[in-house]
Amino acid sequence: MENNLFLDAAFSKATERPPVWMMRQAGRFMPEYWEIKNKYSFLEMCKIPEVAADVTMLPVDLLGIDAAILFSDILVTGEAMGGDLSFTQGVGPKFANPVRTQKDIDALATDVLDKLQYVADAIKVIQQRLNGRIPLIGFAGAPFTVMSYLVEGGSSKDFKLTKLLIHNHPELAHQLLSKIAKVTVDYLNMQIDAGVNALQLFDSWALALSWNDYQEFSHQYNAQIIAGLNRKNIPVISFCKGSSVFAPIMAQAKPDVISVDWNADLLNIKKALPEGIAVQGNLDPHILYADKPVIKAQIHKLFERMRGEKGFIFNLGHGIMPDIPFDHVKYAVDVIKEFKY
Ligand code: CP3
Repeated sequence: MENNLFLDAAFSKATERPPVWMMRQAGRFMPEYWEIKNKYSFLEMCKIPEVAADVTMLPVDLLGIDAAILFSDILVTGEAMGGDLSFTQGVGPKFANPVRTQKDIDALATDVLDKLQYVADAIKVIQQRLNGRIPLIGFAGAPFTVMSYLVEGGSSKDFKLTKLLIHNHPELAHQLLSKIAKVTVDYLNMQIDAGVNALQLFDSWALALSWNDYQEFSHQYNAQIIAGLNRKNIPVISFCKGSSVFAPIMAQAKPDVISVDWNADLLNIKKALPEGIAVQGNLDPHILYADKPVIKAQIHKLFERMRGEKGFIFNLGHGIMPDIPFDHVKYAVDVIKEFKY
């Protein structure tokens, strides 16, 4: 690999500066994304390997980040299991056949790798294009977060139906989570075989859960997935919104990196973790709306706080919003790349 910053930091080795990549780094904040998006639906963009590769490469070429992330979505596992998935502009993801009863759960398939073959194909095309310049991160949604979309039938503010399921029918919730976990392990191992250099597990909505429910309905399945990966030398990043609360539990699943939301002091989180677990984070993405001197000052403040720490990857606490100005994102990357420890 020409640029080893990301993998070194992920394995808690010293780097000359923090590596940078950003969640949702290929998306609507980029004019070049719209040029592609105007020609294809979002799912077509994910499913046509050449197009997924084109989008994956946008932030590599236009921002100069230190790691690429596969262009796809966390909900493709739910679709492969039988979910009738669509993405509509302004509405977000929808599953037209929500999963709420024993019958619905029984109908979900778990041997679905053939349906996800397009992802393996995309990874191969992307790796040819990257040609050893920077690592490629693969990913999947964590069972609790994917379950929430299947149960609610789409995005939710309060996760009311998901919480009703776990509280009134925990045995059904566990059946559903087990099925998603099985698919997720197979899917991530397929991504490893196809050639990704790192993996991230996205448990975006874990924050909705109480401390006890997090352990029972999220963490135990994430731990099962991480333990089931043929990891070789591939670092695993565990992300959730809520990591500033749940990091000590997340660490028990033994990821290489914990990706932290913006509510916590990153150094305090890192110091409380076992030796050898790196942290990724944790700028509030709203900072990227602010004026450039504010962006620079906030990045430098974070970096001064983390100075001397091995195992730190710069990222946002959550994804880039679609209306953040592109030149602010580019400016942030430049500020980071000029920084020296
Ligand atoms: O980070 C990247 O650049 C890689 C691609 C990526 C996408 N989704 C592309 C996408 C990744 C890693 C994801 C993960 C994802 N998808 C998560 C976890 C991360 C997070 O943000 O918490 C979640 C919860 C989803 C589910 C999802 N997909 C939602 C809620 C939406 C609609 C909201 C929105 O931002 O439009 C999507 C659609 C989606 N996924 C888009 C992109 C670029 C927008 C599609 C479009 O162009 O309209």
